[in-house]
Amino acid sequence: MHVDGTMRDRLRTIPVFVGVDATAGRFEDDGPADNPLPAIGEWIFAAAAAGQLEPHAMSLCTVDASGVPSSRVLIVKDIDDEHLYFATPSDSRKGLDIAANPHVSAHFHWPLVGRQIRIVGTAADQGRAASEDDFAERGRGSRLAAHLHRPGPLPDRRTALAEFDRLGSRYGDEVPCPPTWTLYAITPAEVEFWEASADRVHHRLVYRRDTRHAAWRRELLWP
Ligand SMILES: Cc1cc2nc3c(=O)[nH]c(=O)nc-3n(C[C@H](O)[C@H](O)[C@H](O)COP(=O)(O)O)c2cc1C
Repeated sequence: MHVDGTMRDRLRTIPVFVGVDATAGRFEDDGPADNPLPAIGEWIFAAAAAGQLEPHAMSLCTVDASGVPSSRVLIVKDIDDEHLYFATPSDSRKGLDIAANPHVSAHFHWPLVGRQIRIVGTAADQGRAASEDDFAERGRGSRLAAHLHRPGPLPDRRTALAEFDRLGSRYGDEVPCPPTWTLYAITPAEVEFWEASADRVHHRLVYRRDTRHAAWRRELLWP
């Protein structure tokens, strides 16, 4: 397929902040209060109401023992006044990174409403009981798929499909929780709310605190 223009030209024709007008001014009206955590959930639901697909998907960045970062998308399973929760195998790359270095960052982007939230904090294993509860709430397909996770390379896709079939025949409704399946909680130390503005003077409000029980301090940032 031939497409005219250089890569640079083609990238520059793609518009940004298309959804901004619809949300202009909302930041000040329903701006987050003393604790930023509940507002994360509210922004997820606002994005969902605007039609954003998978608004509860966030990118999670971890850093390995030698300082090399990596990121991937995960679903947020719950948010309370102190934590955001996600689940994944402890022997995955991110799980091994967190075991070596608990510092993580997380990020949401909702283009339909011109908003993003960035989070910096630490992640911690929530223990077997919480992890098994999380696993039990997953659909059968994703419980079976969790058993497909192994360290090391996969020889070919057919091998994974055959293994998925074997697991499906082996387990009925009761799919056991793999010992590595782990619910993690992120304890944020920094949460930044960002909202695009049609005049390009975008809004930024950051919350920071030093320890888990300290009060949050909030300040505006230059765009
Ligand atoms: C929308 C979306 C949601 C995902 N949700 C999860 C999840 O909740 N848990 C998980 O382990 N992987 C999830 N994944 C897959 C991860 O992005 C990643 O590929 C996988 O966990 C391996 O990551 P790692 O090798 O860096 O540990 C999701 C991917 C996408 C695109």
